Amino acid sequence: MFLIVLLCLITYFQSNINCAKFPNELTKCNYGDSECILTKVNDIFQNKHKGFHGLLLPSLDPLHIRKLNLVQGSGQRVNIELYFSEIDLIGLSNATAYKATGFDQVPLEFIDFRFMIPMLMIKGPYKVNGIISFLPLNGRGESELVLDNVHFVMKFKTKMYDKNGNAHLKLEKSKMNFNTTRLRMNFVDLFGSNEQLGLNMNTFLNENWKEILEDLKMTIVDGFGEVFSTIINHVLNNFAYKELFN
Ligand SMILES: *[C@@H]1O[C@H](CO)[C@@H](O)[C@H](O)[C@H]1NC(C)=O
Ligand SMILES: *[C@@H]1O[C@H](CO)[C@@H](O)[C@H](O)[C@H]1NC(C)=O
Repeated sequence: MFLIVLLCLITYFQSNINCAKFPNELTKCNYGDSECILTKVNDIFQNKHKGFHGLLLPSLDPLHIRKLNLVQGSGQRVNIELYFSEIDLIGLSNATAYKATGFDQVPLEFIDFRFMIPMLMIKGPYKVNGIISFLPLNGRGESELVLDNVHFVMKFKTKMYDKNGNAHLKLEKSKMNFNTTRLRMNFVDLFGSNEQLGLNMNTFLNENWKEILEDLKMTIVDGFGEVFSTIINHVLNNFAYKELFN
């Protein structure tokens, strides 16, 4: 996804009279050249994560998310509706992409895109209703979630569509997954003014993070899939596929 964003930047620079001031590394890759694509994507993560507003590429670190709803109704231990609003995702500037395949001249059926982030933080207001381990929850406040060593494995289903006579690529959510070596959570005011109960619940959540994550995983994957594909497709809609590669 970030690859596409980068390639769009390239197109933009080439049609821009100021292109001389942009570094050489912003050249197009050949179709299907995974090594080249990975280099570009990682350059975006490391050096261009502050965003390019003119290209509809938002800041990636922090990445602001207006709404993220995690509704999990059938978990064994977790049965909650968790709503985040106006949150920041922090950590993508240290991400490393290690697989990017499918961007052939005729895009393959699936784009396989994988990247790793040493530390990913989600920070902002939450609202929760539901039940965790037989305890009813109904709180709202500030929250901070930290995930260590996150691997995202994203397989987007590709779809081409026509816009003004040009073929554009669209990525549809498909098989996605992620893993982490550790999840730490802090939900402030989980039980309103009952601070002790809130502390106890946060301790419980952190001690049982593996089970909690297992129950919430598919919902989280779905939420992130939506966030990422929205950003990418917004950009893709503005550039024909053939403009992105040599
Ligand atoms: C990126 O990694 C460096 C070195 O480990 C660390 O100091 C920095 O806080 C990290 N940045 C983010 C946004 O995680
Ligand atoms: C996470 O997934 C990646 C890629 O699939 C794998 O290499 C890594 O070992 C996994 N880590 C954990 C903690 O399961």
